[in-house]
Amino acid sequence: MDKRETIKMLLYDVALEHSAIVQYLYHIFLITDGNITSEIEEIARQEMRHLKWFAQKVVQLGGQVVLDRLEDMIMIGGPDWADMLAKDIWAEEEAIRIYSEQLEIVKDDSVKRLLERVIKDEQDHKIEFSELMEKAKEGLICVPVEEQKQDSKTIEVLNKFLREEYQTIINYLYQFFHSKNCDYKDIMLDLAIESMVHMGKLGEKIGEVGGMPDISRVDYTPKPLLSLQEQVKAEIVYEQETGGEYGKETEMIQDPDIKRLFKFIENQEEYHKQKLIEFFKLMNRLTVGDLRKKND
Ligand SMILES: [Fe+2]
Ligand SMILES: [Fe+2]
Ligand SMILES: [Fe+2]
Ligand SMILES: [Fe+2]
Repeated sequence: MDKRETIKMLLYDVALEHSAIVQYLYHIFLITDGNITSEIEEIARQEMRHLKWFAQKVVQLGGQVVLDRLEDMIMIGGPDWADMLAKDIWAEEEAIRIYSEQLEIVKDDSVKRLLERVIKDEQDHKIEFSELMEKAKEGLICVPVEEQKQDSKTIEVLNKFLREEYQTIINYLYQFFHSKNCDYKDIMLDLAIESMVHMGKLGEKIGEVGGMPDISRVDYTPKPLLSLQEQVKAEIVYEQETGGEYGKETEMIQDPDIKRLFKFIENQEEYHKQKLIEFFKLMNRLTVGDLRKKND
């Protein structure tokens, strides 16, 4: 297996982890028992780490990260929670099978070690999901009957933001993997994580009010990276606009809980903008300073 094939394989693994994350997010949003969802969240976080490790290997080997996913590996929903958890067990089994096959043919030692590590994690996840499913089956966890239903317009708005946050995560993660500037990388990772928090809160809200979250495909084509200056400027404008959209909806929405959620996110988007502006100023000051030094 040459380098090009190894990169191709790793990109498949990135997509596989991405698919698992999406599947688990759906279940986190649809299952309303906090005891179950907190455990799935922990597993989903681990899959994010896997995704990051595979993607970083791609970059190390000189490849370009694509944050695509495998549609037919995403199995969501079901008649009850046990059924959803059975699908998650299946996802882990598939991952174990695929990574074990890769381990047989891969030549690169550090990729081998990474695969071994990830396989161990997935085996662990499989056990955890099995335990959760047993609990759900035994009815130790009850499905709450009382649900405050929301009108479809509200769910539509929540889903619109959910998908925007998802797209933002993809965009910021891509920049995190490929930007050469360490400070900017750090900001991008931070903002991607905060966008995950936003996405999580929106999705949980949708599940809570009896809606179906929509985490369908977004645009995964990597945008050509602009100059750092242009890139930061574009993200400042973007954060400004998103903050504005949340602000506008805060005014329109009736439900006090959702109002509060939007306000909370709006404030964080404002902070994102400020952070980027700060970085932009600092970067320009440094550039001007460097130029002066050169002229001296
Ligand atoms: Fe994983
Ligand atoms: Fe896993
Ligand atoms: Fe956000
Ligand atoms: Fe943001």
